[in-house]
Parts: sequence; structure tokens; C-alpha cells
Amino acid sequence: MTAMISKAIRIDQHGGPEELKIVDVTVGEPGPGEIRIRHKAIGLNFIDVYQRSGLYPQVMPVQLGMEAAGVIEAVGQGVTHLKVGDRAAYASQPPGSYCELRVMPAKCVCKLPDAISFETGAAMMLKGLTAQYLLRRSQPQGGLNAGDFVLFHAAAGGVGLIACQWAKAMGLQLIGTAGSDEKCALAKAHGAAFVINYAKEDFVARVKEITAGQGVKVVYDSVGKDTFDRSLDCLRPFGLMVSFGNASGPVAPFSPGILGPKGSLYVTRQTLFSHITTRESTQEMADDLFAMVSSGKINIRIDQRFALADVADAHRALEARKTTGCTILTL
Ligand SMILES: NC(=O)c1ccc[n+]([C@@H]2O[C@H](COP(=O)([O-])OP(=O)(O)OC[C@H]3O[C@@H](n4cnc5c(N)ncnc54)[C@H](OP(=O)(O)O)[C@@H]3O)[C@@H](O)[C@H]2O)c1
Repeated sequence: MTAMISKAIRIDQHGGPEELKIVDVTVGEPGPGEIRIRHKAIGLNFIDVYQRSGLYPQVMPVQLGMEAAGVIEAVGQGVTHLKVGDRAAYASQPPGSYCELRVMPAKCVCKLPDAISFETGAAMMLKGLTAQYLLRRSQPQGGLNAGDFVLFHAAAGGVGLIACQWAKAMGLQLIGTAGSDEKCALAKAHGAAFVINYAKEDFVARVKEITAGQGVKVVYDSVGKDTFDRSLDCLRPFGLMVSFGNASGPVAPFSPGILGPKGSLYVTRQTLFSHITTRESTQEMADDLFAMVSSGKINIRIDQRFALADVADAHRALEARKTTGCTILTL
């Protein structure tokens, strides 16, 4: 077969959004365990910013992007869960979803239910599977039960709005933080039981007030540097701190000794990619997500759309905290 050409977004060195260059790349046939997929829409994620800036160093040059949906065009040897013509979506290593067409490992690519559009599929896989593993698999001693308080930072973002709805479906009282009153209202409308504008309110004091001094069972913190230390003060004894991102910068090193006097706290740093190492675990988590979305319990809100060629503007908006919900790149 003659190699095909795809538009793709590549960086040749780490840096700002200006490093994102549109190029033509050749795409060949899938090898064993791989598929070729023609994208219909691509998801934008904060990890794309870390990979672009160098916070998560990459081998250069690198085609960015971790999430997309499209149609399977070719299937390599040994791939049995997908066939040519299937609608599919994924959140997956290695980066490379910022393109029209790619060859990639099949393991994390899931058949997309007919009821879910390509745009929704592209927007929800990485963020939705993250909300899934956070709320369902990253639990404190004794688990999470209806009525329990959890604190979720950046609750009006892509992962945040999905988590608000998921927590509500589980009967949890999610306290969501966000950087403006408008974002707080959005989180509330999506199921947050309480909201705190952390740009102007002391979130530790407000959490204590809301929980009658008890604190929350879990803090889900993707903001990192600006919130980590104070998040520990929101936990009840034996509470669980789940750190899963660095939107404001990486968390500073700390001594485990501080966790004792704060109530023998647990701290974990989670990443989706530990949860989706096998085809089986990926599909199990995706089935849970698909069921939540297909049943209408979770609405995937796409608040921003950018053409693939305008991806630098999408990065600027995400980094400037100008987005809410999910953002997709269109083709
Ligand atoms: N570990 C994992 O498995 C995993 C997987 C997916 C996502 N994540 C993390 O989860 C977070 C959410 O991801 P997302 O793609 O859905 O992004 P997002 O939440 O839509 O956007 C990030 C949000 O973080 C908040 N933020 C606080 N301080 C910020 C700062 N200094 N600069 C920029 N934003 C800041 C902003 O909301 P406010 O204005 O309301 O503060 C912003 O809208 C990211 O940190 C991401 O890395 C981790």
C-alpha cells in the first residue's frame, strides 16, 4: 500500500503554545496489536500542556495529544476486539492524537456505543476514565458511601464537571472549588452539593464550616502547588489525599512526618495510565463510563471547539483558565 498523508501537530522542542506546528506525516499499516484510526474529533487535556511545556519531558520531535474518537480503518495481527469500520474512542499513551489519521496500540482503543457521538467520545475518554478511577477506585478506608463529603478542586473543568455528576449519582456530597462565581454556578448545576470560589474564599475554613468541623473523607487535587498544603487541612482523621495533577505547578516536596499530627492521613499520587495498563481494565472502566453517559446520568459538556490548526489557541485558553467543561479539536 502507498503510505497515506495526515495533518498532525508536532513540537520539535519544549516551550509555549507557539511550538505547536502543523506538519504532514506519513501513516502506514498497523503492526501486530495495532490499529489505524481516522479521527472525527480530538480531545484536549491539561496533560497536553505538561507534555508541551516539558513538565513531563518528551523525546523530540513529538506529536502531541492523548484522546480522540474516529473510525477504524485497518487492524493489525492479533487484534480481536475491533474491526474495520468500527466507531471507536480512546485515551492512550503514546501521545499522538493531534492528527487526522494514526497507527497506534489497540489495547486502550474501545468500541464506541452507537448512542455516543464522535465529539462526545473524543471529549470524554481521558477525562471520564479519570473521574471513574478517582471516584470508584481511589477510595479511603471504609470506602465512599452515600452522604460522605469529598472535596474536588477545579470542579468546573473537564474532569471536574464529570466528577460532579458522577459523585452525585453515587450519593456523595461533593464540595467543588472553582476560580470564579460563574464557574461555581456551573459546578453546582452539574451536581456539586456545595461550591467554593477559591479565588476569594478561604477554602479550608469553608470546608470546615460545611462539614461542621469534621473535614472531608477525600480530597481530589489536580491544582497541585497552590492547593496541596491547604488541602491536607480539609481532611478528617485517616482521610485520603488524592493528588492527580499540577495545573498551578508541581507539588513541593514534603516530609511524611506532617501527616501524623494532621490525623494520620493517607496520600497518593494517581495517574490514569496505571489503571489502563491492560485491555481488560480499560474496557471495564470504559463500560462503566459508557453506561453513565448512555443513561444520561452524566452529560459530557463541550464548551469550546477549535480547529486542529488552531490548537495553539486552545492551549492558551486552557492555561489561562478561560475554559469550562471539555474542549475538542475539530477536523
Ligand atoms: N493524573 C491523572 O490521571 C489525570 C488525568 C486527567 C487529568 N488530570 C489533571 O486533572 C486536571 C484537570 O484536567 P482537565 O484537562 O480537565 O483541565 P481543566 O480542569 O479543564 O482545566 C484546568 C483547571 O485548573 C484550574 N487551575 C487552578 N490553577 C490553575 C493555574 N495556575 N493554571 C491553570 N489552571 C489552573 C482552572 O480552574 P479554576 O479557574 O476553576 O481554578 C482550570 O480551568 C489537570 O490538572 C490535569 O493534569 C490528571
